[in-house]
Amino acid sequence: MANKSSNALRPRPAVERMAPYHPPTGGRMDRLRLDFNENTLGCSETVTQFIAEHLIENQLAVYPEYGAAVEELAQFFKVEQNEFTLTNGTDEAIQVLVNTYVDDDDDVIILQPSYAMYRFYCEVAGAQIHEIAYRAGTLQFPLQELLGAIRPSTRLILISNPNNPTGSGIDLDGILRILKKAPHAAVLIDEAYYEFSGVTALGLIREYPNLFVSRTFSKVYGMAAMRVGCLFSKAENVAWLKKAQSPYSVNTLAVLAARAAIRDTAYISEYVGEVLAARELVYVGLEKLGINYIKSQGNFVLFDCGERSIEVRDALKAKNILVRDRSYEIPGAVRVTIGTREQMRKFLTELEGVWKRKA
Ligand SMILES: Cc1ncc(COP(=O)(O)O)c(C=O)c1O
Repeated sequence: MANKSSNALRPRPAVERMAPYHPPTGGRMDRLRLDFNENTLGCSETVTQFIAEHLIENQLAVYPEYGAAVEELAQFFKVEQNEFTLTNGTDEAIQVLVNTYVDDDDDVIILQPSYAMYRFYCEVAGAQIHEIAYRAGTLQFPLQELLGAIRPSTRLILISNPNNPTGSGIDLDGILRILKKAPHAAVLIDEAYYEFSGVTALGLIREYPNLFVSRTFSKVYGMAAMRVGCLFSKAENVAWLKKAQSPYSVNTLAVLAARAAIRDTAYISEYVGEVLAARELVYVGLEKLGINYIKSQGNFVLFDCGERSIEVRDALKAKNILVRDRSYEIPGAVRVTIGTREQMRKFLTELEGVWKRKA
């Protein structure tokens, strides 16, 4: 997209070639936000109180210090302090992983459709990207296809478990088969929605030196604005990751927020329980309307609006309910974030109105 008539500097060819990625980022505050898989209620009050109590003016003048957070998070996640690095959200985890292991023209494998930032950082790096499609129709994890695509040259495999936007997951047996088939590649299991699925590969990091696991405080913890997460792996790998990472990428407020968030585990389990109940309610509501959907292991559900995906998204927006159109990658698909039962009843009522308008 270089403007030939301008005298602006040309970027690296890899950046020129990149597909644009512009998620909607404005005007969401006063609406029912069922479009980004966030916690629809917000974070625990423990977080805001902890920040207010612990933030002293002096602290903002000082570059962030991570000692207390690393100690507390290591205990919480049951790992050693040198088995993870704090990251500026999962996005930085992906970026650091790519920067550490992927050179220009290296082979990487991603799945399709999946979280857009995998492709984004691999494209920035100038990698050769091999895409494996989720199974047509069912959108289940394409294990055989992925195993068949692993080459001696594969450097990185990026997997969201459960996957955004399909909601489908891969079990630990499947993950083990991938790890064993690709001992020469870094394998990321992105567990952004772990709390809703209960499936985690974190316990395998010592045994499998090619395994990386990421977690985030952006989803169930309700702290997307803070930009904080963790990237776990064997200690030797983490040392390399840290070498390639900015020493101050996570800010002091985010560090305080993460420390507080893990103190209120009751808030998280209550919210997960509410979402799982609300997800059942959404399934029933969609079935009543005759709308097909994919059963999800996350706090979001993909449903099929046929020709009407854009119309449905826009009509819901007019009612102040935001959902995400995904029809550009799966024909007819719209993704709705699951919040509380009350919020989902509101969504279903408005969806019914839109759906029955024409049909
Ligand atoms: C699979 C997956 N990973 C990571 C993220 C983003 O996480 P973070 O806010 O921690 O960068 C998302 C957000 O939608 C996601 O769907």
